[in-house]
Amino acid sequence: MARNIYNFSAGPGMLPEAVLKQAAAEMLDYQGSGMSVMEMSHRSKVYQSIIDGAEKAIRDLMGVPANYKVLFLQGGASTQFAMVPLNFMVKSSKADYLNTGEWSTKAIKEAQRYGDVKVVASSEDQVFSYLPEIKPAEFRPDADYVHITSNNTIFGTSWKSMPDTKGVPLVCDMSSDILSKPVDVTQFALIYAGAQKNMGPAGVTVVIIRDDMIERCRPETPTMLKYKTHADNGSMFNTPPCYAVYIVKLVCEHVLAMGGIPAMHKLNEQKAALLYDALRTPSEELDKKFLAEAAKEGLVTLSGHRKTGGMRASIYNAMPLEGVQKLVAFIKKFEQANP
Ligand SMILES: Cc1ncc(COP(=O)(O)O)c(C=O)c1O
Repeated sequence: MARNIYNFSAGPGMLPEAVLKQAAAEMLDYQGSGMSVMEMSHRSKVYQSIIDGAEKAIRDLMGVPANYKVLFLQGGASTQFAMVPLNFMVKSSKADYLNTGEWSTKAIKEAQRYGDVKVVASSEDQVFSYLPEIKPAEFRPDADYVHITSNNTIFGTSWKSMPDTKGVPLVCDMSSDILSKPVDVTQFALIYAGAQKNMGPAGVTVVIIRDDMIERCRPETPTMLKYKTHADNGSMFNTPPCYAVYIVKLVCEHVLAMGGIPAMHKLNEQKAALLYDALRTPSEELDKKFLAEAAKEGLVTLSGHRKTGGMRASIYNAMPLEGVQKLVAFIKKFEQANP
C-alpha cells in the first residue's frame, strides 16, 4: 500500500516508509520468534538483542563515548523536566536555565518546585521570536547544572552552538532536533529527547547521561525517577516500552544506512533552504483556505501551534525532500491564485 500524504506535524512526526514497511513485515513473526515484538518478554534473549541494537545504533550515530549510558525511559520529555532537578539539584540546589520557548518555560516551572532557579537568558519579552544573548557573567559557578533547549519546537529557533558553562554540567532538551545534525556529546552531562519527532514513536524517551551524574539524586526521589535505577538495570527495572524501542532501533539503523547524521544534516539543510525561500506571511483570512486546499493535495498538519496560530511546517528527518518540493510548489501556486 502506497502512502500519498506528506505529514508536516510537529510531533509525532513522519516515520521513514522503509521502517514502517519493515515493522509491518515483522509484525506477526519477529525474525522466526513466532511472535510480535509487542508480545515477547522483555527478559527474553530475542528482546535483549533488540534493545542492545537500539542502544548500539544510537551510540554509532551520535558517537556516544563509553563513559555515557544510553537509557530508554517513559513519561515523555516532560517527565525529564522533573527528573533533572530531582536528580541533579543536590549540592547548592541552584540551577541556571535558558528560557527560549514554551518547553523551557515548562522545564523552569518544574525545577522551581525543587530549588533556586535563575533564568540566565530569555526571549520571553518578544514571545520567543529570537534567541537571547548569552552573557557568561550571568551563569552561577556554583549552580548544580545549566539547562538549555537546543531547538524550540513551537517558535522554530535553534541554537547554533552551546554556551560555555565553565565546567557546570550542561543538560539539554534535544527533543526536536536530535539526530538531525552533528553534536559533540561530550559537551553535555545529560541529553534527553522524546522519541516522537526524529527517532520513533511516542512512548520512549532517550536519555544520554555521563557516568559521573548517575550517582546524584535527592533522597526523596521516587525509585522510578532516579537515573541510577535505570542505569543499573539496563533500562529494564520494569517493563520498558518494548515496541517503541524496537522502532527506534529500526529508525536509527535506517539513518545509519542513509549515511548517518552528516547525510541527514545535509538533506535537512536542503529542505529548510527550499522552504524558507518560498515562505511569505499568510494573511489570517487566507489561513483556512490554505490549509483546506493543501490537505486536498496530501499536504497535512500545517496549522501553527494553538498558542501561536498561523502556519507551521515541521520537516523532521523522515520528511522526504519531495514532500518539501511539493509544499513549495503548492505555496507558489496558492500565492498566484491569491495575490
Ligand atoms: C523541545 C520539546 N521538549 C519537550 C517536549 C515535550 O515532550 P513530551 O510530549 O514527550 O513530554 C516537546 C514536545 O513537543 C518538545 O518539542
